[in-house]
Amino acid sequence: MQNQKINPTNTQFKPETSKKRVFSGIQPSGDVHLGNYLGAIKGWVGHQTEKENFFCIVDLHALTVPQDPIQLRSQTRSLAAILIAAGIETEKCTLFIQSHVAAHAEACWILNCSTPLGWLERMTQYKDKASNQISVSMGLLDYPVLMAGDILLYDAQEVHVGDDQKQHVELARDIAQRFNHIFGETFTLPKAIIPKTGARVMALNDPLVKMSKSETQLSGHAVGLLDHPDEIKKSITRAVTDSGNEIRFSKEPEKAGVNNLLGIYKVITGKSESDVETDFEDAKGYGELKLRVAEVVIDEIIPIQRRYKRLMGDVGELDNLLAKGAKQAQAISESKLDEIKTKIGLILSKNK
Ligand code: TYM
Repeated sequence: MQNQKINPTNTQFKPETSKKRVFSGIQPSGDVHLGNYLGAIKGWVGHQTEKENFFCIVDLHALTVPQDPIQLRSQTRSLAAILIAAGIETEKCTLFIQSHVAAHAEACWILNCSTPLGWLERMTQYKDKASNQISVSMGLLDYPVLMAGDILLYDAQEVHVGDDQKQHVELARDIAQRFNHIFGETFTLPKAIIPKTGARVMALNDPLVKMSKSETQLSGHAVGLLDHPDEIKKSITRAVTDSGNEIRFSKEPEKAGVNNLLGIYKVITGKSESDVETDFEDAKGYGELKLRVAEVVIDEIIPIQRRYKRLMGDVGELDNLLAKGAKQAQAISESKLDEIKTKIGLILSKNK
């Protein structure tokens, strides 16, 4: 049964809602940076009204690499506050912590049993992360199956992510297709939605690698969403560029630094590429480019930091909002899990 061929013409189940359903997630590991904000969070905030959104703080995913328990707890609350401060409205969408909804871990186990090991071993993120570690946990390999469970439990049609998560969303689609083929139509096939600009914000100290949470401790690598404005200015004005003076968008590797700074400016201002280039026509070299980019970044982040401080002043209220979100998520995911269990031949418990 495991080796049956997948029928690519499987029809998709559509949830009964006129709005597109979205599931997106973010890990509470490390400091949230400008890449997370521009590649994911800012977009989530932008489509809150037109879509039905589930936003999840994926603490179980964070466990796939070693975490300090005290830090993990505080980063999880801090991330919830950052998301709300950035504009996620808990009256409009469902914001919750992954481990508060047990169906995610259960779905992961069930999907593990129909996912070929080779599919996971091929994941580039797994190969990159595993190559940096002496001992690799099962969790790291299984990471994309847990992610597939997250998405499929909600019959999400769209998954809004940065470029680095595209392969994982495609795998979730393959896992869904395989399950549907073996057990009959069960899951909606999800699609990755990746922003045109900001999907891959590069490191300031090396514009050939992406800005990454695991490197935020390194000075000059990233702009943290909670960094002091002076720190932000310092990181951006020290950004690696090239020895030229042309301020234009470019795919050439030697212009990657300038291209990255212009991309950051473009997403924040919402301007077109040509308008951005026009804005810098009169700029006196890269020094001025960097100062002006730092200015828009700081203007964008300061109000978020103010709201963040207020939210962190009432952790009880934050926990209440997350509990409400978990309840909403449970209602949907538990009934989906029952459907899955029935399809594969498990008896549903009477103790509900
Ligand atoms: P995470 O926590 O690494 O990142 C959260 C989001 O930020 C995006 N991102 C970036 N975007 C642009 N430039 C960058 N340098 C950059 N770095 C990160 C990520 O693409 C992501 O959208 N596996 C996911 C979490 C997850 C998930 C899910 C996402 C778990 N379950 C279900 C969607 C649906 C992750 O590690 O994201």
